[in-house]
Amino acid sequence: MNREGKIGIGLLGLGVVGSRVASVLTERAERLAGQVGLPLTLRGILVKDLSKTRDGSFPSGLLTTDPQALLSNPDVDIIVELIGGEQPALDFLRAAIGNGKHVVTANKQVMAVHGPGIIRLAEDKMVNLLYEASVGGGIPIIGPLHKDLLANDLTSLHAIINGTTNYILTRMSTEGLDFDSALRAAQALGYAESDPADDIEGTDAAYKLAILATLSFHTQVVASDVYREGISRVAARDFQYAGELGYTIKLLGIARRSSEGLSLRVHPVLIPQDHLLAKVDGAFNAIEIEGDLVGRVVFHGQGAGPKPTSSAVIGDILDVARGIASGMKPVRHRVLDNGLKLLPLEELVTQFYIRMTVADRPRVLAQITAILGDLDISIASVIQKSTDASNKTAEIVVMTHPSKEAQMHQAIQQLEALDAVAEISNTIRVEQWA
Ligand code: HSE
Repeated sequence: MNREGKIGIGLLGLGVVGSRVASVLTERAERLAGQVGLPLTLRGILVKDLSKTRDGSFPSGLLTTDPQALLSNPDVDIIVELIGGEQPALDFLRAAIGNGKHVVTANKQVMAVHGPGIIRLAEDKMVNLLYEASVGGGIPIIGPLHKDLLANDLTSLHAIINGTTNYILTRMSTEGLDFDSALRAAQALGYAESDPADDIEGTDAAYKLAILATLSFHTQVVASDVYREGISRVAARDFQYAGELGYTIKLLGIARRSSEGLSLRVHPVLIPQDHLLAKVDGAFNAIEIEGDLVGRVVFHGQGAGPKPTSSAVIGDILDVARGIASGMKPVRHRVLDNGLKLLPLEELVTQFYIRMTVADRPRVLAQITAILGDLDISIASVIQKSTDASNKTAEIVVMTHPSKEAQMHQAIQQLEALDAVAEISNTIRVEQWA
């Protein structure tokens, strides 16, 4: 707390989320002061360009292009970083913490790649570092992992944490759109960016899974520890066939702890149609966590957008501000590294859905089942889906029983080498809940 008995806030970034945060802090100032016990005041807002016109109900005199005007300002208690991306956000956060400021950030990239380091720095400096908005937009998930679920040994986490891909997959599922048309529809509505790579290739979801897994399993996970596949190979046909088998397809972030260690992955998955996550449609996010005491809990809501994200950011600001107002020491958030081994993908055991185009002639199925059988892969069902009389080809869908990933890779290579196999069109893992 500083000048005039107010809690000073320095805001870095004035994009759509920053503008909303600045407006809410201004418009709801009286109410927020009542909730904290002291007034909060915006001391300044860092922008790149002062001349840009901006909407928002906050005093325009607060804008500055000088980061030090906030990072080194003795009247700023809390730095709120809403610039996004790795740099200069990371340097600003480090400088703020180094100067003894509490920090609130929405930056998934920084937290997923440098989280353990800056959490340690914040602890050493005895300041708070809160990042609720980095995962799941307005959905409270970091807070519950820090507090409400802490007594549990968590065993698994299944999460739809990328709204863009969930929107695309929902349109493919409900309207039979192909991937490109669904992506264009998402771009037209502003859900997908003009360069959609980070979303559709699963990078964004991998950042978020790394943040959640670090907290859930008390082990230091960074984004590069997460195995990742995107959704661009998923076809309208896969939805049709998955549906016939009782499944739908989602891009999930999955973390599972077993006696051997922790597996971490982001990829498209067939999930049973009656599972709660199968019903999460459009740009919504949902995170299901299983703990030994609490059982299964699901957090659902809007995973992006200025309003939901500002809800999470301001929640964090209020949390820090209450601590300052009551003279509390920052809560320890250090990751207690329990040394869980991160398991390589090759050790994963899952069911597989394999869609392939094969020659429509005798003994082809026998060759396929021989390859799978020799590799100890048991078949749950084989369906011949459609035949093309002119090409003498057929489309076949094979569902396997749970098999080791390493065996499956070998099987795919051997199947591809068969004369009778024209194409392995897609392989998608299947997720089952006990
Ligand atoms: N691009 C993200 C998504 C939103 O589609 O969910 C920001 O995290």
